[in-house]
Amino acid sequence: MKRKWWKESVVYQIYPRSFMDSNGDGIGDIKGITSKLDYLKELGIDVVWLSPVYKSPNDDNGYDISDYRAIMDEFGTMSDWEEMLDEMHNRGIKLMMDLVVNHSSDEHAWFVESRKSKDNPYRDYYIWRPGKDGKEPTNWESAFSGSTWEYDETTDEYFLHIFSKKQPDLNWENPIVRGEVYDMMKFWFEKGVDGFRMDVINFISKVDDYPDAPNPEGKKYVSGHEYFMNGPRIHEFLQEMHREVLSKYDSITVGEMPGVTPEQGRLYTGEDRNELQMVFQFEHMDLDSVPGKGKWALAPLKLTDLKKSFTKWQKGLEEDGWNSLYWNNHDQPRIVSRFGNDSPGYREISAKMLATCLHMLQGTPYIYQGEEIGMTNVKFDSIDDYRDIETLNMYNEKVHENGEDPENIMVSIYTKGRDNARTPVQWDSSEQAGFTTGIPWIKVNPNYTEINAKQAVEDQNSIFHYYRNLIQLRKQHDIVVYGTYNLLLPDDEKIYAYTRTLGDETLLVICNFSGETPVFNIPNSVNYTAKEVFVSNYEVDSNEDITSFTLKPYEARVYKLS
Ligand code: NOJ
Repeated sequence: MKRKWWKESVVYQIYPRSFMDSNGDGIGDIKGITSKLDYLKELGIDVVWLSPVYKSPNDDNGYDISDYRAIMDEFGTMSDWEEMLDEMHNRGIKLMMDLVVNHSSDEHAWFVESRKSKDNPYRDYYIWRPGKDGKEPTNWESAFSGSTWEYDETTDEYFLHIFSKKQPDLNWENPIVRGEVYDMMKFWFEKGVDGFRMDVINFISKVDDYPDAPNPEGKKYVSGHEYFMNGPRIHEFLQEMHREVLSKYDSITVGEMPGVTPEQGRLYTGEDRNELQMVFQFEHMDLDSVPGKGKWALAPLKLTDLKKSFTKWQKGLEEDGWNSLYWNNHDQPRIVSRFGNDSPGYREISAKMLATCLHMLQGTPYIYQGEEIGMTNVKFDSIDDYRDIETLNMYNEKVHENGEDPENIMVSIYTKGRDNARTPVQWDSSEQAGFTTGIPWIKVNPNYTEINAKQAVEDQNSIFHYYRNLIQLRKQHDIVVYGTYNLLLPDDEKIYAYTRTLGDETLLVICNFSGETPVFNIPNSVNYTAKEVFVSNYEVDSNEDITSFTLKPYEARVYKLS
């Protein structure tokens, strides 16, 4: 396996709206980010992935871009951005920008032109179709509820939008559109960025006949994923992007790819494929939903499913390709509330256990802002306190159109809503958690008086320092980056145990995902003559015999065996 700097890196994701507000308008901004770079340096991360900071009407908080080469007014100016980049580079931190090119905003100049007439030069920048029998061209359902098609009176046609109707899909079949995207990427590379995270990049190639999706239950709209996920020309487009742009820069790339399998993951990330370096796959994020019913249909996680899924990806990309590792991002609920335990007695210990389990796997770890201090999900009493378009559209459809019980819907929002990840970062115990001197655009989680970065940095035993240690261990020990993964005890419902092996060294990773005290019995396949404690979330007596021992609630231990 080839050594690469991006395999040895740890990435930290910033969702700028919620990170740090420097000017008191209640919205996080670029100067706010710059003011916190020493904090990130102390944590020890190597790369920042910055969610979109481009000009945007904010229908989907910046994932709807109206100018790819300008900075959103609320976030600051281009010179603020340049200063931020310089200050990152001065600290040895690289910057990965978000590339959102499956769709633009409907306020982008291209779309404003495109909708004017059928013969406008920009018409083919987007996907326009006539209606079918007085209805939408297909029965596909948008990721944000309703149809994927919006009727436009001016030309009596519909345009495709997989996300909101203010996010029209770009037409990648048009080589001029592809050229525009590549030029824009070069513009940012020339400004000094170090790579891109690519938003739903496996959606850019659509099947060309646009059929209806099967609809056995006779619903109004149904998912049409199979017609645009991993579509017919996706590899051709990514290889072209690589040839035209990525091959010219020593960069880091990760493609966000719902619905991708390890086999496809190898095609996207294989060494000789000349596409991307990593994908964000979603299999482990779907395990606490009822299969096929969408994210809001809640189901408990089965640890054996999580192990099966991680193992499939670890083994699937072990010879060729590379994994990304994540528990959180701006679209997911907080992991300590989700797969850990956020009650006061267990929050810290379970957050450390989850961190251990993830960071000892093979791949590049991503930390989402606030994860390193164990931020939790939030429960606002009223739907009016929520801001996310996905959540609000879903609530509206289920409660107001379908007449479902609002209390049940609130439970699914508390469990899965994206705003769980978007409450402001809790910097200290002062008003508004030190995020802003004004009124924040979304309420602060009231637990900020106990859970905040200041407290965590001061306490050597905090989750923050635990993450810091995990990051340092990765830098000091090749085995953490390059060791081969093998699952132990596949059928255990409480303990996730695995090994990593490199040369004659082995790491033995043991994580108790439960609040109970299961007994760990070392499998016969694990042989060693010497052992030392590599990292653990409780104090461990290094002389303890490990052939069989009782784990404490949410205990995580890693041994180095030789
Ligand atoms: C994925 C992004 O992570 C999410 O926040 C966004 O809503 C959709 N793509 C659409 O851009």
